[in-house]
Amino acid sequence: MHCVREITKDLYWVGGNDRRITMFENIHPLKEGVSYNSYLLLDKKTVLFDTVDWTVVRQFIENVEYVLNGRTLDYLVINHMEPDHAAAIEEVLLRYPKAKVISTEKGFYLMTQFGFHVEPANQIVVKEGDTQKFGSHEIVFVEAPMVHWPEAMVSFDTSNGVLFCADAFGSFKALNGAMFNDEVDFDKDWIDEARRYYTNIVGKYGPHVQHLLKKAGTIDIKMLCPLHGPVWRNDLGYILDKYVKWSTYTPEEKGVMIVYASMYGNTENAVEILASKLVQKGVKVKLYDVSNTHVSHLISDTFKYSHIILSCVTYNLGIYPPMHNYLMDMQALNVQNRTFALLENGSWACKSGQLMREELEKLKKTTVLNEVVTLTSSMNDVNLKEMDDMVESILESMKD
Ligand code: FEO
Repeated sequence: MHCVREITKDLYWVGGNDRRITMFENIHPLKEGVSYNSYLLLDKKTVLFDTVDWTVVRQFIENVEYVLNGRTLDYLVINHMEPDHAAAIEEVLLRYPKAKVISTEKGFYLMTQFGFHVEPANQIVVKEGDTQKFGSHEIVFVEAPMVHWPEAMVSFDTSNGVLFCADAFGSFKALNGAMFNDEVDFDKDWIDEARRYYTNIVGKYGPHVQHLLKKAGTIDIKMLCPLHGPVWRNDLGYILDKYVKWSTYTPEEKGVMIVYASMYGNTENAVEILASKLVQKGVKVKLYDVSNTHVSHLISDTFKYSHIILSCVTYNLGIYPPMHNYLMDMQALNVQNRTFALLENGSWACKSGQLMREELEKLKKTTVLNEVVTLTSSMNDVNLKEMDDMVESILESMKD
C-alpha cells in the first residue's frame, strides 16, 4: 500500500524508510534506521527528484504509481548518483521508458559506471544555472560538487522556493510518520544524528559545503527537501547555522570531550578523576571509551566540542589500535580548529603521548597543550598535580 506525504502544493514525498539497516554505507551503525527521500512534482509535466535505495524500491514504486494516478512520468532528475538514491533508476525507466533523465555530465558518467542505461535521446545534461520549465514550476540546477560526490547538484524551484538539496541538510534516522522539522523536536531528538550524518558523510568537504551555502544565500529558499531525514519548512536559520559551524569546523560548544583507551581500568580511573576536576571548575564534559564507542559517534562530538582530551595506553610500543583508528578518521575527515590535551600510560617505554601528538600535529589549526599527564601503570600523586596543571591550561585556553 502506498505511503506518501504532501510536501506542498503539487509536490509529494514518495520515498521509503529502512529500519532493518544496521550499517549505513556498511560502516556507520544505525539504531533508528534511515529514510531515502524522493519527491514527485505534478505539473503540466511530471517530475521525479531522485530515487531510493534498493531496499525500499517496492514501497517507492507503489508510492510513485499512486501519486501519478495513471499519468506517466515525464522527467527524472538525478541530483546525486550514490546508490542509496540512484539504485532505482532502472526500475523507474523500465516502467516509464519515455521519461527524460536530467543530471550533470558527471552524473551520466556515473550512471554508465553503475550499469544504468539511459537512451542518449532521453538524456538532458545540465550545468550550473541551467533551467527547465515543467509548467508553472521552473527549476534551476545548481552544481554542488563534493556535497557529497563530484557529480552532485541541487535543484531549486523558483516558483515556490523549494530546494531539492541532495545530501545537504540530511540526517540519519527513519521518518516515523513525521515528515517536517516542525513535526519533531529536532534539537532534542534529531540533532545528534544529523551531526553524525554530516560529519561522517560530508565532513571532509567543508569548503565545498561553504561554497554551496554561499550560492544558497543568493536565492530565496522557503523549504529544504533533503535526501534523508525531515523536510525543513520553517526555522531554516537553525539548520543553516549548524551547517555554517560544521563546514567551517567551528565548535558548537565550549566543552571537553574525553576519549580514553584503557585495558585494565587504570587509564579509565585517571580520566574519571580528570573529568571530575573539570566539572568542578564548571566545564561541560563528555566521556567516551574508545573501545566501545563507534568512531562515527566520536567524530560527531569532535565537531561539536572545542576541546578534546585523548587518553591512551601504549600498545605494542604504539597507539592503542581503536585510538589510532579515531586519529586516522579525524585526519580523513579534515578535523581542525580544536584544542587537544594528552594523557598517556605505559608500564614501560611509554610512547602513546608523543605518537598521538605527532598525529594531531597533522591536523590544521590545531593546538596540543604542553601539559601532559603521564601514568606509569596507575595514578599517583604526581599525576594529580599534572592533572591540575592540565585543567588550568584548558581553562586558560577556553578564555580565547
Ligand atoms: Fe545519501 Fe551521498 O548519499
